[in-house]
Amino acid sequence: MNWCEVRAAIRQKYVDTYDASEADHYDTTPGHGLSTIEVESYWSDLQRVITLQPGSVVLDVGAGTGELCHVLLRVPGIKLSALEPSPAMLAKLPAKLPAVTPRSGFTDAAEDRRHFGPSEFDAIVSRQVVCSLFDPLQAFKNWHYWLKPHGLVVVIDGLFSREGWAGQGQAYVDVLPLASSQSLALTPYLLESVGFRVQAVEWMAATNATLNESGSRRYIVVASKQAEPSEVF
Ligand SMILES: C[S@@+](CC[C@H](N)C(=O)[O-])C[C@H]1O[C@@H](n2cnc3c(N)ncnc32)[C@H](O)[C@@H]1O
Repeated sequence: MNWCEVRAAIRQKYVDTYDASEADHYDTTPGHGLSTIEVESYWSDLQRVITLQPGSVVLDVGAGTGELCHVLLRVPGIKLSALEPSPAMLAKLPAKLPAVTPRSGFTDAAEDRRHFGPSEFDAIVSRQVVCSLFDPLQAFKNWHYWLKPHGLVVVIDGLFSREGWAGQGQAYVDVLPLASSQSLALTPYLLESVGFRVQAVEWMAATNATLNESGSRRYIVVASKQAEPSEVF
C-alpha cells in the first residue's frame, strides 16, 4: 500500500461522498441527523460523563452540518468552532448555527496541525468521525497539541459492522483502522498511547435507547491531556 496515495484518495472520496446532495439530506437521514428526542438523549449522555464550564472554548472535529454543535450550544457562553473537510457540509453551518465558527480542513495528517495553534481548546469533541479516520493516531496527536493542559477529548462513535459500510463504504473498511472495530477498548487504548489519560468509557445509554434493534450501539470516551509535550510526539 502506498500510504500517501491511499490517504489522498480517501480524502477525495470523502469530499465526493459528502457532496451538495448528501449535505441537503444529511439532517433528515436516520443515524446522521438528530431528532429532538435524540438531541435530548445526546445531551443527557454527555452530561453524565463531562461538565463543560460556561464559556468553554470547544472544537467539533468532522462537524459535518453541525448536528453535534447543535447539542453543544446548550453550554452557556460556549465558543464553538467546527472543523470539516467537505465544503458542501460546512456550507450548511452559517445559516443553521451562526454562533459556530466554521473551519475547512481534515484532522488526521501531520500537516493538518496547522489548522489551530497549541493549547487553543478546553475540549475537542467528535461524533461518528473517528471510525472514518485514515490515521487515528495522528489525529489524536493533533488534538493533544490543540488542547490546553488538562483539556478534554470526547469521542462519540459506534461499533459499526463491516456490512454496515454499505455501497461505496465497502472500499473504506480495509483502509480505515477504526471502521468496524467491535471493541470498546480500542479508542481508549489509542488515546492513552499518545499521552491522554482516559477518564470514562461508557455506552451512550440514553442515545442507545432511541435506536432500533439494527442500529449500531454508540459509545463515548472521555480522556484528558496530562502533560506537555509527551515524548511520544
Ligand atoms: C458521519 S459524518 C458525522 C458528521 C457530524 N460529526 C455529525 O455528528 O453529524 C462524518 C464526517 O466526518 C468528516 N470526515 C471524514 N474524514 C475526516 C477527516 N480525516 N478529518 C476530519 N473530518 C473528516 C466527513 O466529511 C463527515 O462530515
